[in-house]
Amino acid sequence: MSEPLPQSGKVAVIGAGTMGAGIAHVAARAGHTVYLHDSFPGACDRGKKAIAKDLEFLVGKGKLSEGEAAAIASRIQPIHKMHSIAEAVLVIEAIVEDQAAKSTLLHAIEGEVPAECIIATNTSSLSVTALAQGMKHPGRLVGMHFFNPAPRMALVEVVSGLATDPAIAARVAATAEAWGKTAVQVRSTPGFIVNRVARPYYGEALRFLTEKGATPATLDALLRESGGFPMGPCEVMDLIGLDVNLAVTTSVFEASGFDRRYAPSLLQQELVRSRRLGRKSGEGFYRYGEGADRPEPAVEAQAYPAGSITLAGDLLPLQALAGRLKSAGIGCKQVSSADPVEPGVSRIALTDGRTATRRAAEEHGQDFVLLDLCLDYSKATRIGVARAKQCRDEPYRAVVGALQKSGFAVTPVADVAGMAVMRTVAMLANEAADLVSQGIASADDVDTAMRLGTSYPEGPLAWADRLGAAFLVRVLENLQAHYGDERYRISPALNRLRWGGGKFHS
Ligand code: NAI
Repeated sequence: MSEPLPQSGKVAVIGAGTMGAGIAHVAARAGHTVYLHDSFPGACDRGKKAIAKDLEFLVGKGKLSEGEAAAIASRIQPIHKMHSIAEAVLVIEAIVEDQAAKSTLLHAIEGEVPAECIIATNTSSLSVTALAQGMKHPGRLVGMHFFNPAPRMALVEVVSGLATDPAIAARVAATAEAWGKTAVQVRSTPGFIVNRVARPYYGEALRFLTEKGATPATLDALLRESGGFPMGPCEVMDLIGLDVNLAVTTSVFEASGFDRRYAPSLLQQELVRSRRLGRKSGEGFYRYGEGADRPEPAVEAQAYPAGSITLAGDLLPLQALAGRLKSAGIGCKQVSSADPVEPGVSRIALTDGRTATRRAAEEHGQDFVLLDLCLDYSKATRIGVARAKQCRDEPYRAVVGALQKSGFAVTPVADVAGMAVMRTVAMLANEAADLVSQGIASADDVDTAMRLGTSYPEGPLAWADRLGAAFLVRVLENLQAHYGDERYRISPALNRLRWGGGKFHS
């Protein structure tokens, strides 16, 4: 483990906007003297005021004494001339997200500081490799990607470009940890860990909506209440801004050489073209402002429960569902998916990426109802169901009733391949697996980044371990066959586990 930079070392932050002010706050709170510089007159004062407000809030919450807050504020010194950064051991740039502006600034920083000074960039989307181009000492440039708001968000992605000296990346990671953050290490790649692995959270939602799988309110409710995600994808896109979300997707799409996996959605482009940008424009997937009411998610009316049902599939997570049905007094016969369907017996099964209608046809069972994935079947409050076209009303209602009696709000979705939660989780895991197979980040770091950077309930690779690589590969293969789209191609890391056994986390 590398040593952090000493507390006595001075830190310079260039750019006193949202992120620069937040980073200055973090470094000063860790005991460093911080020089804060901005090219826009008045920006440093605004930054200092924002920091003072944050500190006041922390004093109010009892997290800091007034004396400590005053000491932190006094350690942040606005500077007007760049040459004052000469004494810094670490310079962090947090100026506008513009490659040319950042390159010019990095060149200017190098002109002021000694060779041993570490230079970090808070870029969220530019290549650290490209930014190091033209620097005298490219080995000392490292990405230090804080999340907004920096004082509250625990995660820092430490990003290495091709030229970054590994010892410097390790030192920056140790320093971030000494500042109370959790650092993950990642090689420079479009979107780094969080913004890249999160793409399918939006991409799959947009596809599902395009296919009229459900309304945004229903989709969000499933991701929250079945999937355990803190916010549904439409709510998040409305919060971030559909234009901003589209710009990130487009930049990852372009930087990846137009990999279809990241292809922007026409639905999202249309929403942006009509200025439905989310909360900031008053309307996105939802309406905001005075009198705007939030639509309710779809839910089945109360139904009379079946006395017993047949649950097909041998995955471990389904044991919890079987237990829950049994506790509610529903007889639950568990069979293997490969077992032939008994005539006249309705079958429920976890989606494997095929539609219910296809499965009913292939498995010669008329009354087929598919269930969506839940993070934890013993605790989920909602479950998504998709009904085969062949499925008759009465058996369908009986399955709905049985799930209701077990305490689920039963939410119908259209018979879309992979349903809502399953396709999302399979693609998040696939993307995460790709980062591991390309040596961009370790499985532990990927999962840590997703839990801390996006508050996912479980790391995608830990989730993959629970479901098993073989099952996830099957889901993805079925999606790929259904859509004929290379978007669902399987990560080599998942394929290796499927054939060789083992898990991402031992
Ligand atoms: P901002 O617009 O709030 O602040 C940027 C500041 O940089 C402004 O005060 C501007 O006057 C100053 N500036 C511009 N050019 C300059 C120059 N040549 N020299 C000195 N100061 C200059 O932007 P924000 O949101 O703080 O973003 C800054 C960086 O952080 C960007 O690279 C962004 O991609 C990244 N980032 C932003 C996050 C966010 O949620 N806002 C999250 C993580 C990273």
